[in-house]
Amino acid sequence: ATLDLPDDVMTRINDCFNLLDFEKAARERLPSPLFHYISGGADDETTKSANTSSFDRYHLTPAFLRDIRKVDMRRTVFGVDLAWPVMLSPTGLTGVFHPDGERAVAQAAASSGVAYSLSTMATTSIEDVAAAARGPKIYQLYLLKDDAANIEMIDRCKAANFDVLCLTVDTVVAGNRERDHRTGLTVPPRLNRRNIVGFARRPAWCLRYLAGGGVSLPNIPAGDGNQNLGTLAAYFAANMEQNITWSRVERLMRHWGKPFIVKGLQSVADARNAAASGVTGIVVSNHGGRQLDGGAATVDLVANMVDAVGDRLEVVLDSGVRRGSHVVKALAMGARACMIGRPYLYGLSAFGKPGVERVLGLLRQETERTLGLIGCASVDEVSRRHITPADRLP
Ligand code: FNR
Repeated sequence: ATLDLPDDVMTRINDCFNLLDFEKAARERLPSPLFHYISGGADDETTKSANTSSFDRYHLTPAFLRDIRKVDMRRTVFGVDLAWPVMLSPTGLTGVFHPDGERAVAQAAASSGVAYSLSTMATTSIEDVAAAARGPKIYQLYLLKDDAANIEMIDRCKAANFDVLCLTVDTVVAGNRERDHRTGLTVPPRLNRRNIVGFARRPAWCLRYLAGGGVSLPNIPAGDGNQNLGTLAAYFAANMEQNITWSRVERLMRHWGKPFIVKGLQSVADARNAAASGVTGIVVSNHGGRQLDGGAATVDLVANMVDAVGDRLEVVLDSGVRRGSHVVKALAMGARACMIGRPYLYGLSAFGKPGVERVLGLLRQETERTLGLIGCASVDEVSRRHITPADRLP
């Protein structure tokens, strides 16, 4: 007998049993240009797809007959205490998807015991996020051409007691996200010939968005054209620093004076340069496949990067993580933690803060269950012995 469950339409939060379900739920709620802005990747989206599917290239190998009555998932990463080894990646424009925006996400992260990352392109200010959520906070810096503006952002983060500064380096030019061209996405959202049908089909979002008063980008210091970005590509070309050097990184790091990480590295050579510059950590990331298409899945890169620099800095894996088993595979390769981006945005878009909480609750349960299933009583017990390339037998 079939269960006869609706598996394509996720209208209620309790119909979502894993992170992929939230993508379907968000698709139901968001105007299509916004859904595709979150979901899309660059060019042919090969790297985006590979990020998740490449986790299947590795098998978990259990080690049984061990005491797993209590599974300890706590870990300190970049000097920050996590209840379990996940952090939320920075995402711009979060307030466009739901009026509770970054505050709701930061609060959900704090109650789940994970770190929240606030983007330079966020719709809520550094100060308002600090006031809204007590948990560990990372500020993600996009280096702007205007260095006074960069220093101003860093000083605001110091004053607001952020824990970690994260410099994203894979966005010196904007990736080619063709879904956005097709759907007529603009920032902030404005009606045009291409997107009018997509918005008209989601009146609930339109009313909520208008009631929320639209968006601004309060972390970018004045003078950087933070209203009416038009297309993201044009904004990036005009404002992003396209000459980030390691000596510039070292100067920023000294000015910050607390844990400092670089996000977006994809090679052993760059990992070695990062270690030489003395950063606290790196995030192996391809921006969820939204920037360079044709690069490797991060799960295929992380083990070699850990082997090269893992004794000198902490390595975190980002991009494509959708299951607790993915988190555990990354840990087995030596990553200290994982970051997730799209899944929490889907939870927020569909259901607000409770959606983000459920996304995190499900991923946490999956991670804990997977640890138990491979016979590990703590995250520190997970090692290379627990992972095998899929074309070899354990
Ligand atoms: C992002 N990402 C991102 N990264 C960053 O450093 N600064 C930013 O402002 C943004 N903005 C942003 C917006 C949206 C809508 C998405 C989906 C992503 C990338 C993000 O931090 C992270 O690297 C990816 O989302 C990770 O991949 P998954 O988990 O989405 O597959």
